[in-house]
Amino acid sequence: MQFTFAAAAAVESGALMVGATEGPELLPAAAKADRTSRGAVDRALKASRFAGKAGQTVEILAPAGLKVSRLIVVGLGKAHDFDASAAESVAAGALGRVKNGAETELTLNLDGLKGAKVGGADLAAHLAVGAKFKTYTFDTYRTKKLDDQGVALKKVTIATGDAAAARRAFARLEAVADGVFMARDLVNEPPNVLSPVEFTRRAKGLAKLGLKVTVLGEAQMKRLGMGALLGVGQGSERESQLVVLEWHGSRRKTAAPVAFVGKGVCFDSGGLSLKSGAGMMGMKGDMGGAAAVIGTLRALAERKAKVNAVGVIGLVENMPDGKAQRPDDVVVSMSGQTIEVLNTDAEGRLVLADALWYAQTKFKPRCVIDLATLTGAIMVALGSEHAGMFSNDDALSEQIAGAGKVAGEPVWRMPLGKGYDKLLKSKIADMKNVAGPHAGSITAAQFLQRFVVEKTPWAHLDIAGVAWQDGEQKPLIPSWSTGWGVRILDRFVADNYED
Ligand code: BES
Ligand code: ZN
Ligand code: ZN
Repeated sequence: MQFTFAAAAAVESGALMVGATEGPELLPAAAKADRTSRGAVDRALKASRFAGKAGQTVEILAPAGLKVSRLIVVGLGKAHDFDASAAESVAAGALGRVKNGAETELTLNLDGLKGAKVGGADLAAHLAVGAKFKTYTFDTYRTKKLDDQGVALKKVTIATGDAAAARRAFARLEAVADGVFMARDLVNEPPNVLSPVEFTRRAKGLAKLGLKVTVLGEAQMKRLGMGALLGVGQGSERESQLVVLEWHGSRRKTAAPVAFVGKGVCFDSGGLSLKSGAGMMGMKGDMGGAAAVIGTLRALAERKAKVNAVGVIGLVENMPDGKAQRPDDVVVSMSGQTIEVLNTDAEGRLVLADALWYAQTKFKPRCVIDLATLTGAIMVALGSEHAGMFSNDDALSEQIAGAGKVAGEPVWRMPLGKGYDKLLKSKIADMKNVAGPHAGSITAAQFLQRFVVEKTPWAHLDIAGVAWQDGEQKPLIPSWSTGWGVRILDRFVADNYED
C-alpha cells in the first residue's frame, strides 16, 4: 500500500473519509461535500441520527453530485478529547470499510480540525499509520484468497497543509509499524516452521538495518552454565538458541544500554507436565515476548533511534520425550542459584532466569525490562485490556506506564513482596519453580526477581493476555497476533532514553 500526503485538492475518485465533531460540526471537507451535493450529505446524516460522536460513522455510496464513489463521514467526538490514538482508529475504520471494495484509492481528510490534542502534520501521520495497521494480513499459508480479501486498494492519500512535515513524522511511525508487523508475523507463524533456529535466522536478517546480531547455541550456553534455559529445551529435537541484538545509536558510544529480554518458547506443550489439548492450542504464540523484543530493536534501528539498546531472547521448544526434564529435577542456573523444577509447564521463568542474568552481567544495562507470555493467571486478573507490570523501581514503572498510555498498550502495576517470595521455598534447592495455587502471576514475578542483579532497575511485563486475541478484534489489529510490546517499548525509549 502506498501512503502519500498532499494538500487538500479536489478529490475526484475513489473513497473519501471526512469528519465532524460533536454537534455535528462538519469539518471543512465535509461541509464542502455537503455543499457540492446540495445538502444530500446533511440529509444522510440526519436520517442516521449522526451527531458526530466518537465511533459514529455514516457511509454514503455514490453520493449525488459528488464524483467520489463513496463518502465516509466519521464522528470525532469532542475536539478536545481527540488524540493520536483516536486518529489512528478512525483511519483504520475507514480503511476497513473500503479494503474489500473495488476502489483503488482512499483519501483521508480531517484538515482544518481545531482544538484537538493532535493536529497538523502529526494528525496526518497518525491517520496514515492507523490505516497502515489495518492493512496487516498473514496469508503465507493460504493457497486461495479469502472471499472478503480485496486487493483493489492501492493508494491512501492524507490531506494535509504540511506534506513534508507529515512525511517525516510518518517515516518514524512507519518504522514502528514495521516492527509491529514483524512481531505479528513471528507470533502467527506455525510452530513446525518457526523453530528456535528459524527464529534465529530471521533475527540475522536484521543485520542489514545496522543491528549487531549474535547467536549462542547449546554448547556455548552450556559453557556459560545456563542450566535453567537448557533444561527446558532438552526434550526437544530442536536446538535451543540465545539471540542477542545490539543497537548502538547513542552519540555516547560507551553509554550503558537499555536492555530488553524476551521469552521465546516457540511451542509450549507443557513438557512432561503436559498441557490439555485445549490448553495447548495457541502455544505457538508463547514466543510473544521474544517477538516484541525483536520488533522493538527493529523499530529502533529503522528509525535510527539515538540510544544504545540490547535485546536478549531465549529460544526453546518445550516438549516431552525420553530426554525431557522431569518434574522433581533440580537445575543450576547461570547465576549459580539452584531450582527445583516441580512443574515443567512453568518453563518461561526458567528461560528468563538465564536470559535475564546474561543480559545484566554482560551489558550492565541502565535498566532491564522482560516481556513474557508467562502466566494464565494474568488473564484471570486483567483480561486483555492491560498487560501486568511488576517492578522493583517506581520511576521505571512510571516511565513504562506513561509510555503504554500514549502508545495504546496500557499496563497495570501489580504488587511484589516478601510474603509472596516465601512461597517459592523448596525442600531441597534454593527455590522451586511453582508456588501454590494463588497469586500465580505474582509468584512468577517473584521468581524472576531472584535473577535481577542487585540495584538494577527491572520491570517484568506479563503479556499472556495481550499477545494474541481470540475474541473480538481490536480496531488496529486485524490479526490473531497483536504485536503487543513494540509500540510501548519504542515510546518508552523515545520519551526517556534518547540523546
Ligand atoms: N505459556 C504459559 C502461560 C500461558 C497460558 C500463556 C495461557 C498464554 C495463555 C506458561 O508457560 C504456563 O504454562 N504457565 C503455567 C504456570 C503454572 C504451571 C504455575 C500456567 O499459567 O498455568
Ligand atoms: Zn508452560
Ligand atoms: Zn510458556
